Amino acid sequence: MRYLVASTIVITTRALASISGCASQCEPLSWSESLTKAGDFVSQLTLSEKVGIVSGAYLAHQLPCVGSIGSISRLGFDGICFSDGPNGVARSDSVSVFPAGITVAATWDRDLMYHRGVAMGEEFRAKGSHVVLGPSAGPMGRHARGGRNWEGFGPDPYLAGVAMNASVAGIQSAGVQACSKHIIANEQETQRTSTTTDGKVIEAISSNVDDRTLHELYLWPFANAVKAGTSTVMCSYNRVNGNYSCANSDILTTFLKDELAFPGYVLSDWYATHGTVDFANAGLDIEMPGNVSLLAGASYFGDALLEAVNEGLVLEQRLDDMAKRVMAPYFRLSQDQDFPTVDPANGPVFAILQFGHQTPLLASYPEVDSRDVRGNHADIIREIGSAGTVLLKNVDGSLPLKKITNVGIFGNDAGYPTIGSVFLDISNHPEGFEYGTFAIGGGSGNVRHTDLITPLDAVRDHVKSYGGQVQIVLDNDQLAEGGLNTVYPTPDVCLLFLKAYATEGTDRVSIDLQFNATKAVESTAAVCPNTIVVVHGPGVVLMPWADNENVTAILAAHYPGEQSGNSIVDVLWGAVEPSGRLPYTIPKTLSDYGPDIAELPESEAPDGWQSDFNEGQAIDYRHFDSADVSPQYEFGFGLSYTTFEMSTTLEFRVTGNVSSVADKSLGIEPGGLIDLWSPVANATIEITNTGNTTGLAVAQLYVSFPQDTTPKGTPVKVLRGFSKVALDAGETRLAHFELLRRDLSFWDSDKTEWVIPKGNFTFLAGFSSRDLRSRVQTVILP
Ligand SMILES: *[C@@H]1O[C@H](CO)[C@@H](O)[C@H](O)[C@H]1NC(C)=O
Ligand SMILES: *[C@@H]1O[C@H](CO)[C@@H](O)[C@H](O)[C@H]1NC(C)=O
Ligand SMILES: *[C@@H]1O[C@H](CO)[C@@H](O)[C@H](O)[C@H]1NC(C)=O
Ligand SMILES: *[C@@H]1O[C@H](CO)[C@@H](O)[C@H](O)[C@H]1NC(C)=O
Ligand SMILES: *[C@@H]1O[C@H](CO)[C@@H](O)[C@H](O)[C@H]1NC(C)=O
Ligand SMILES: *[C@@H]1O[C@H](CO)[C@@H](O)[C@H](O)[C@H]1NC(C)=O
Ligand SMILES: *[C@@H]1O[C@H](CO)[C@@H](O)[C@H](O)[C@H]1NC(C)=O
Ligand SMILES: *[C@@H]1O[C@H](CO)[C@@H](O)[C@H](O)[C@H]1NC(C)=O
Ligand SMILES: *[C@@H]1O[C@H](CO)[C@@H](O)[C@H](O)[C@H]1NC(C)=O
Repeated sequence: MRYLVASTIVITTRALASISGCASQCEPLSWSESLTKAGDFVSQLTLSEKVGIVSGAYLAHQLPCVGSIGSISRLGFDGICFSDGPNGVARSDSVSVFPAGITVAATWDRDLMYHRGVAMGEEFRAKGSHVVLGPSAGPMGRHARGGRNWEGFGPDPYLAGVAMNASVAGIQSAGVQACSKHIIANEQETQRTSTTTDGKVIEAISSNVDDRTLHELYLWPFANAVKAGTSTVMCSYNRVNGNYSCANSDILTTFLKDELAFPGYVLSDWYATHGTVDFANAGLDIEMPGNVSLLAGASYFGDALLEAVNEGLVLEQRLDDMAKRVMAPYFRLSQDQDFPTVDPANGPVFAILQFGHQTPLLASYPEVDSRDVRGNHADIIREIGSAGTVLLKNVDGSLPLKKITNVGIFGNDAGYPTIGSVFLDISNHPEGFEYGTFAIGGGSGNVRHTDLITPLDAVRDHVKSYGGQVQIVLDNDQLAEGGLNTVYPTPDVCLLFLKAYATEGTDRVSIDLQFNATKAVESTAAVCPNTIVVVHGPGVVLMPWADNENVTAILAAHYPGEQSGNSIVDVLWGAVEPSGRLPYTIPKTLSDYGPDIAELPESEAPDGWQSDFNEGQAIDYRHFDSADVSPQYEFGFGLSYTTFEMSTTLEFRVTGNVSSVADKSLGIEPGGLIDLWSPVANATIEITNTGNTTGLAVAQLYVSFPQDTTPKGTPVKVLRGFSKVALDAGETRLAHFELLRRDLSFWDSDKTEWVIPKGNFTFLAGFSSRDLRSRVQTVILP
């Protein structure tokens, strides 16, 4: 029998609300109430059931999910289903492919970040997944070549923190747990986890990072996630200062559970648990995936944990704490009430993707239609796709396009992927596939396309709709070799779609666009004096042709998700104003960007993989500032179809009475000391739209901390506020920035607390990290 419910439910916010108790926009319970409920639940469990709550797939009834906690039917607990990942429901069908993290970061739009989270949360819930394995704030992007940078929100902690907050809040408003990942300093894929060569274990890369850098850079966005109520945090594959992050008590217990007062659970990345006692006692609360017979790999919790508890090596009190932490978010989001069952079609979809159509596993699954959970999410995906597109160059108003009747659609990124709809393969294919658009990257963050709108389809449909015609060349090698010989007459505009792939599991070989892209640009531009380059990529890519006289416009469209074609048509023809700004820096060469991936020629030394983060906080624009390097396009940059001015007077006001450290008597709650989040100052700047069309300005506030009263290593300036403001032609408005205590503090490693330094601060407002229009110097503490 077919699964009937599937075809009858249209998933919208309202439909979901009507089918279950806490489907959308419902208030979570307080943490203390949730922990009490969790405590009551755990008190009814046997020792082995408690172990089952914290050990992946240990109890009966494993769910067809990438990870699961089994059920305890006598208590009416049906288990917990965990699903990848940060851009939509992975390994599934009839789901939306959302814009990547880096794309939504490029919108600099808190509402879009939030509503992306809501829509994703709704889809996970409707598929029966209790936990979204996302959002990601690690890697941040220390290395331009990092294979997973695109999954997160870029290398600036303030922007990433805002995006984590909005994403966690959005996802959890749909009654689904957010899993903020990967803590911490998980900055490269190369040797990200331990490997075994000739029976010898070669340990994972150790990210060696000082305390201040951890707090001010890599941990910062996780603080926002905890403040926003993240249910769980995933510890990463790598080691941190010598210990595996999942066995690092500094990270998991001191920073996360004590300083940030995180009340939820720490979950290990898949196979990132390498021991029992050290891991449990350091603060790890669940091993994943655990005892899964289908997938290879040892299990270190389960029976081993039971034994460790029986021997007193892990105290039962600690086991109770682990189980309570795991159950608290489940009660907090009312997942004990009317939570949808796991879509039974997950089983066959997963099995086929993993093992192929011949797998005997298929016989064990019912033949069912997958539950279509997409609702109207295509709308917000399309909107974020355009809002996350950054216009980098626009000579003489080449864009927006008018009704040009002779349009060239060129490049191997324009059409449908010739390999199909899903790019899960993470085994060393850093170049991806040659033909087809990259709307999302590869690995566990990949989501299988149910309805991908390609640039080719959308542009052709649009041009035909007003009577124009298109000429199409999709082979970059043809273009590179002067293949425009097949094109006549020369198009009035040549839209050249180029790409760069990135995937989990491997770092990028280079940051060039791939498949002869540079030659394709040069050869196209040699013939076509109105060449517009659209880049689909994971973030930092080189553009050595940026100053080519015939490249009249450049758009960084990131990984926009399934509405890719519609999103870019909206921008190209001006239905939408390009309001994206770079959430990272585009360098002129890879070596300009700063520290590169650690790569050892021989990995014979078991402990040989070490990466010293000697640059401290100086990554991305902070590095370009401190090393005084000129970027190709700087962090925060992006053009509009209109122009903006900013007043030269930045109004800055400190609240009456600011002390140097947080007032601890105000207490601590998830996110850390409450007073760290208190507003202490305001800044205001006037912005005017000086062009002739409506547009969106992104005003940015940077802060230069006093250098003389802070330790060495203080960045030249850091982003501490932004405001996206819609302005009609000629209109003037104020942009407001509110600064919290944390925003004006540095982490004092000696005192182990956040401190507002004495001395002169400089506040700088502008339209990018290098387009600063006004400044004010002031002391915060007298
Ligand atoms: C977090 O998001 C909420 C809305 O979802 C907002 O009210 C709050 O100001 C945000 N906090 C921070 C620190 O960004
Ligand atoms: C690192 O691991 C060792 C060995 O398990 C342990 O003794 C030490 O406490 C750990 N340090 C941290 C910070 O977790
Ligand atoms: C794994 O599960 C099987 C049965 O599901 C059980 O027999 C075995 O003891 C478990 N192993 C561990 C290490 O927990
Ligand atoms: C295109 O790339 C391939 C593979 O890297 C190379 O062999 C070929 O020469 C390139 N073609 C041109 C015209 O550069
Ligand atoms: C730009 O286009 C013009 C006219 O087609 C051509 O003469 C010139 O060589 C082109 N420049 C480049 C750098 O390709
Ligand atoms: C100023 O701060 C100090 C120290 O936190 C506190 O004792 C005092 O009451 C505050 N005064 C006002 C007016 O808030
Ligand atoms: C900042 O401005 C807002 C709105 O004008 C106001 O409510 C708030 O009190 C101000 N905060 C500080 C710290 O001055
Ligand atoms: C705005 O429109 C006026 C009048 O049509 C024109 O003179 C001016 O150049 C336009 N400005 C811009 C920035 O396009
Ligand atoms: C801070 O800078 C302002 C403006 O340059 C100056 O007037 C003031 O004396 C400085 N204060 C301190 C404490 O350095």
